[in-house]
Amino acid sequence: MDNLELLRARRSIRVFQDKSISRDDLVKIIDCARFAPTARNVQPWEFVMVTDKHKLAEFAKLAENGRFIAQAAACIVVFCSDTKYYLEDGCAATCNILLAATALGVGSCWIAGDKKPYSQQVSVLLAMPSSMKLISLVALGYPLEISCFKAVDKRALNELLHWEKF
Ligand SMILES: Cc1cc2nc3c(=O)[nH]c(=O)nc-3n(C[C@H](O)[C@H](O)[C@H](O)COP(=O)(O)O)c2cc1C
Repeated sequence: MDNLELLRARRSIRVFQDKSISRDDLVKIIDCARFAPTARNVQPWEFVMVTDKHKLAEFAKLAENGRFIAQAAACIVVFCSDTKYYLEDGCAATCNILLAATALGVGSCWIAGDKKPYSQQVSVLLAMPSSMKLISLVALGYPLEISCFKAVDKRALNELLHWEKF
């Protein structure tokens, strides 16, 4: 898959095979996350890699729109320190995670973190200092029966691309 094709191929995957992801691949994904753009090069992020089934089940209980985390092989929890552009930086890193996973054939889904009522509980579960902001949880796993996967529609290019003015 070439680079542009990879960007178009990434889709949220919420149904996973019962199969673990190698430690090497998990490390590669975080290695790509750290190359995300970051305002003033602050790099305020920390990544907690969770593979423990009990913790995954706890996340699934907390996140009303992330029940499928319980079936994931891993979940990357993205935090940032409370900098001016923490949210933009953390989101940029999260996008790199999704794309790196896609490149490795690993399915992923972003689960909201920032502004969610469970952010404090997630931090406590991971022994994270309370000053750190939860940005996202990214569920990872090999997609189950990708042929049955119904991708959401994307807005048409000619509807959203505006040359020179709106
Ligand atoms: C900030 C943000 C928060 C999201 N939160 C959730 C979530 O809590 N649960 C979920 O299943 N998907 C979540 N998603 C994934 C979106 O639902 C998904 O990206 C969107 O439907 C488009 O589908 P696609 O990723 O397959 O292109 C989130 C995505 C973003 C960017």
